[in-house]
Amino acid sequence: FEVKWDASAAEKGGWSSFMAKEISEEPEAVAKTLLGRVADGSVHLSELDSIGDDALRSIDRIVIVGAGTANFTGMQAKYAIEKWTRVPVEVELSHEFRYRDPILTPNTLVVSTSQSGETMDTLMAVKYARENGARTLSICNTQGATIPRESDAVVYTHAGPEVAVASTKAFVAQVIALYLFGLHLAVVRGTLSKDEVAEIVTELNALPDKMATVLEQHDSIKQLAGWMADTRSVLFLGRHAGYPVALEGALKLKEIAYIHAEGFAAGELKHGPIALIEPGIPVFVVVPSPRDPNSLHKKVVSNIQEIRARGARILAIAEQGDAAVLPYADVVIPIPLASTLIEPLLAVIPLQIFALELASAKGLDVDQPRNLAKSVTVE
Ligand code: G6P
Repeated sequence: FEVKWDASAAEKGGWSSFMAKEISEEPEAVAKTLLGRVADGSVHLSELDSIGDDALRSIDRIVIVGAGTANFTGMQAKYAIEKWTRVPVEVELSHEFRYRDPILTPNTLVVSTSQSGETMDTLMAVKYARENGARTLSICNTQGATIPRESDAVVYTHAGPEVAVASTKAFVAQVIALYLFGLHLAVVRGTLSKDEVAEIVTELNALPDKMATVLEQHDSIKQLAGWMADTRSVLFLGRHAGYPVALEGALKLKEIAYIHAEGFAAGELKHGPIALIEPGIPVFVVVPSPRDPNSLHKKVVSNIQEIRARGARILAIAEQGDAAVLPYADVVIPIPLASTLIEPLLAVIPLQIFALELASAKGLDVDQPRNLAKSVTVE
């Protein structure tokens, strides 16, 4: 009798790939990133003490730099940070940033986002920002990496090591860290009341359990991906805080399933992308909550009607009980109730699972996609 020990299967904790395992770890990644930073309904990041409250109060502009998935976390967080702090936020690809002579002053805070902390494009952006007098904050998942060492302060995400090339749990942890930074800044600058901060903290603490309920749909999303294994092109639509998630959903599909995929802001549809709609084309739509204070739900439902009338197959990610999308969607993937800024952290999970399972259905190596590296340390 011989017991065969497969070290790589053991490392994957019974999952078929690191990517599958890492998606399953998202609730834990969020919980660990929150741990010790939210207490008594408030937020304090002691890591920001090295910048100091006076300096945080004098900041008049924030620029978030990153590449790939890390760029989309910045786009995601902009909605929250501007709303909570009223400080203008720009989001820029790290490799574009330093080549356009950006305006930097001691009151500019350049926030870099990087899972590895080693991406050369992002490192060079941080160095450039420092040399030109800006303050720098790193959001990073790897202790002691180069980018945090080159920054004035670092807020680590505690997602745990991410092995799969396509980033998943680091995405959600990074958005959480940026949200915590936004809340800390709002507390220091007095732009949110205690009650408002407490309400958001309660929602953040409830997020891991809500994510776990989305993960329970893994098998049904796998089935959907299996049916769509021959798909040549997929579009993703989102609006407001759902827009970066649409971009991330498209990136995941390109990265690991090698399928042409594009994300659009739903409002932009009529300005061009609607010309791409032809019978049978699958379109994922991240639908805002019907309770959304900006009333964007109606507008997105009317976008769905427009493209459905032209033959698109609608795959809607919508809040549980959203009856308005049902008549127009071919498939509805329900997500738990959450506020506008939290919802994207739930909506991204089905898109990650879809990319994973579509790539698997095509027999591809999801952890090591062709032509890509986990960390790009050249410019
Ligand atoms: C590479 C990876 C992407 C990742 C990007 C940024 O291109 O293939 O998955 O999003 O680098 O990596 P970072 O470590 O800076 O977050």
